[in-house]
Amino acid sequence: MNAPWKPGMGGHRDPFHAFVCDDHSFDMLRAVAAEMGWAPEKVNKGGMRNAVQSLSITASPQILFVDMSESGDPLNDINSLAEVCEPGTVVIAAGQVNDVRLYRDLVASGIQDYLLKPFGADQLRDALAQAQAVFMAPRDAAPERPHCTISVIGTRGGVGASSIATSLSWLLSEKKKRPTALLDLDVHFGTNALAMDLEPGRGLTDAIENPSRIDGLFIERAMVRASDTLAILSAEAPISQPMMSDGGAFYQLLEEFRLAFECSVIDLPRNMLIQHPHLMADVNVTLVVTELTLAGARDTIRILSWLKSNAPQTRVLVIANRVHPGAPEISRKDFEQSIERKVDVMVPFDLRIGSQAAKLGKTLAETAKGSKLGAACMEMLNQVLGAVESDDAAAPSKAAGKKGESLLGKIDFKSMMPSRRKDKATLDN
Ligand SMILES: Nc1ncnc2c1ncn2[C@@H]1O[C@H](COP(=O)(O)OP(=O)(O)OP(=O)(O)O)[C@@H](O)[C@H]1O
Ligand SMILES: [Mg+2]
Repeated sequence: MNAPWKPGMGGHRDPFHAFVCDDHSFDMLRAVAAEMGWAPEKVNKGGMRNAVQSLSITASPQILFVDMSESGDPLNDINSLAEVCEPGTVVIAAGQVNDVRLYRDLVASGIQDYLLKPFGADQLRDALAQAQAVFMAPRDAAPERPHCTISVIGTRGGVGASSIATSLSWLLSEKKKRPTALLDLDVHFGTNALAMDLEPGRGLTDAIENPSRIDGLFIERAMVRASDTLAILSAEAPISQPMMSDGGAFYQLLEEFRLAFECSVIDLPRNMLIQHPHLMADVNVTLVVTELTLAGARDTIRILSWLKSNAPQTRVLVIANRVHPGAPEISRKDFEQSIERKVDVMVPFDLRIGSQAAKLGKTLAETAKGSKLGAACMEMLNQVLGAVESDDAAAPSKAAGKKGESLLGKIDFKSMMPSRRKDKATLDN
């Protein structure tokens, strides 16, 4: 079946399963399967309904033979099959209806071939050989790009990290047509699904409760699709329940994303860095989202330093968000001086677009088309892709202090404050 995701062509799939309705087909399928070197016991009695039931709990095979003789509504049944069948599976159907329109509709639904019953052993052999060739053929015309994982971390609460994560995911999937997974690790209070007017479902909660279930099939079923190229995994876990996870489930999810998508975007609450530092181990690009404030500067410095020590492989982009058109608490120049690196993208504060996005259930980037905010989002997308695609080694971040030197000691707090507050400053630096 031809679902949009890149098939995770792992070695876990059985080569062949069949679901047939009558004894004659059953015997013929078993004999021909044995000839092809496949297990005859993978030929089952029972047609479409059994196939759907069985595939909803097991991994899909490479080639699936399904008898539709008992199917009242073949097209509808094929769609039910498509929902449980992993992408990449090549499906051969058989039935008693001799109607070219049905044949065309089935092929349009992703069926490889349709055998009219009764069929002979040679016909079956030809169809299976053809299916095998189709399964083996390279099917992805798109250029093979290495997977990239991007994490988005807010330096302070409410700086717009989730807005940036959802916007970036939307841009990657919509503007660049890259199959993208968005993982919202704010398990109790996450807003990624809400921002796109979607129900989060139980996917992430199930993954946390049952990490052993996480595999390609789980990803297929548990993720909520925002579009053909964007899927989300998030939760609205009850706030009476603490999150019980050693982080293994998240790590495993990211592993599976690597097989099924081109890009993974993680909305990573900063406390998760402390709790689960290993989540950053394979992250290619990190967006540190901040506001231009004193507290933002302090925590940008601390997070940049943390990244340098704990995720030295990741390329870092600093995004200043919600930047007010008037004078911000700290000017860009002072902010950059204090964090000892440039701010890569300045995203303006735009109340109108912010509330419009919330009303429409769309991401900021989508709502902001044609505005300064939209241009900043595109700039961010280009910088992210530049960081992903560049072969150069990551420019060494100068943000962190030398070993043994206090980080806080590096901030000239007083010089950053408006003069009235300077006199009252009690911060001891
Ligand atoms: N550039 C912007 N202009 C206007 N409003 C914005 C902008 N960026 C974000 N917002 C708004 O700011 C609010 C907070 O954004 P968001 O939830 O993305 O922040 P967060 O950093 O993820 O928060 P939390 O710490 O709760 O996770 C939202 O109402 C969002 O619409
Ligand atoms: Mg958030």
